[in-house]
Amino acid sequence: DGLRAAQVFSQGTTYTYDDVIMHPGHIDFGAHQVVLTSKLTKGITLAIPVVSSPMDTVTEADMAAALAMMGSIGFVHYNMSIEEQVAQVARAKRHQAGLNAIPEVLAQDSFVADIHDLKRVKGIGSVCITDTGAPGGRLLGIVTPRDYDMLSHAEHRTTRLGDIMSRDVVTATEGEAHEEALQRLHAAKRRVPVVNASGHLVGLATRDLLRHHSRYPKVGQPSLDSSGKLRVGAAVGTRDDDRARVAALVSQAGVDVVILDSSQGDSTFQVAMLQHCKAAHPDLQVICGNVVTGAQAQRLVQAGADGLRVGMGSGSICTTQEVCAVGRGQASAVYHVARVAARAGVPIMADGGVQNSGHITKALALGASTVMCGSMFAGTTEAPGEYAMASGPSGPVRVKAYRGMGSLAAMTKGSEARYHSDTQALKIAQGVAGTVVDKGSVRQMVPHLMQAVKQGMQDVGARDIAAIHAMLRNGSLRMEVRSNAAQAEGNVHHMHSYDKVRW
Ligand code: XMP
Repeated sequence: DGLRAAQVFSQGTTYTYDDVIMHPGHIDFGAHQVVLTSKLTKGITLAIPVVSSPMDTVTEADMAAALAMMGSIGFVHYNMSIEEQVAQVARAKRHQAGLNAIPEVLAQDSFVADIHDLKRVKGIGSVCITDTGAPGGRLLGIVTPRDYDMLSHAEHRTTRLGDIMSRDVVTATEGEAHEEALQRLHAAKRRVPVVNASGHLVGLATRDLLRHHSRYPKVGQPSLDSSGKLRVGAAVGTRDDDRARVAALVSQAGVDVVILDSSQGDSTFQVAMLQHCKAAHPDLQVICGNVVTGAQAQRLVQAGADGLRVGMGSGSICTTQEVCAVGRGQASAVYHVARVAARAGVPIMADGGVQNSGHITKALALGASTVMCGSMFAGTTEAPGEYAMASGPSGPVRVKAYRGMGSLAAMTKGSEARYHSDTQALKIAQGVAGTVVDKGSVRQMVPHLMQAVKQGMQDVGARDIAAIHAMLRNGSLRMEVRSNAAQAEGNVHHMHSYDKVRW
């Protein structure tokens, strides 16, 4: 009953997500048991598989930090100077990740006055004390303002922290469930150091995380780098001056992963940039793209890409397929690139064309490991830009700008490199600029999206992304092409009015 993906996608018709529908499988587990952990690149795993587009109306520091807090990652756009992009990435990485924020640390023989120096620079009045005087040392105690508030100014210069620190510290252990650590934080009414099994300081639980968790539904563990800072990605181009951009992002901001941003990524420019990045910054993960065919994917996989970004002209603001006559339906692109990339163990990111949670589940089922969203995240609180009022069908609505990076407006600001356009020549727009309605916070939206994806995975009978990929490969994932009438039937129909679903 139904077809294997290989049969659907070998008919010579290009399909997008709405063209196909998956058959249900057998359920022997609860939706809450579905695990959405997935690979962004060969070297980075995320707790949730939805990431944000490097677009100037989607991802800057606020979006990147909010997504990383939930277990995802945001890619800061590069339609700005190197200095500005470095500052955005650094700001997101500095964001207090909560459970694993980087604590300020001093030694027992430091003085109270040393805390004041920290306060002046960083606004922090509490410090952890370790035997080495640095993070990673064995935790000895904690000093907060109430330990030194009553001392005179002169005493601040003579009182050693070892003499006033609280030695009886409430701690959380690394790997401990967030909930438990947060309960301790609540009970202790102060910051709670996080220690590993041998008592060495690895982080700090803060009120910021507590607020985040009490206000928003839970999704996944934060995406953290090896030093406990939030993971942040950035996009760069493939021109010679982009090498300086990558170097600054790595050395000054500690960016975790870069996307080599091009609408047609199968180029010698991209391979050269990839090889440069891997040679100059061996720890940096590099995602190449965009690609939509197996042949394109093969060349970038062979060149050493850590991940591939898939899609050409499928984005909601894209006009590439109309203007340049090139591209592919997004479901076909994801399926064909995934086949090639999976053989080489390279994760792929389905980029663009996602309008609802069902599209995310279909992208994962067709072989994607992560899904990149632009329009879904545009118009949220965390997206750059100010809200404005516009007239809607039933009265005024709040809107924010959303524009293609190949739109005239964005290119005028400098983003034309992505479209291989020559600044000396005529500008050819491959995208549009407009507005989208206010969607509230991504911290509210993403948990809903992820729950819906879990329910879709459960319907299909897959407990995790590896399982759905295995079903795709062994043919037990069955599907069909939807006729126009079947698509209409799958949507709401014959209703006079109904409550519109928000996401
Ligand atoms: P969605 O559908 O999520 O798509 O809004 C976001 C993706 O669209 C790509 N993008 C563009 N493609 N012209 C294009 O052809 C453009 O101006 C443009 N701007 C963004 C990009 O891959 C993004 O992630």
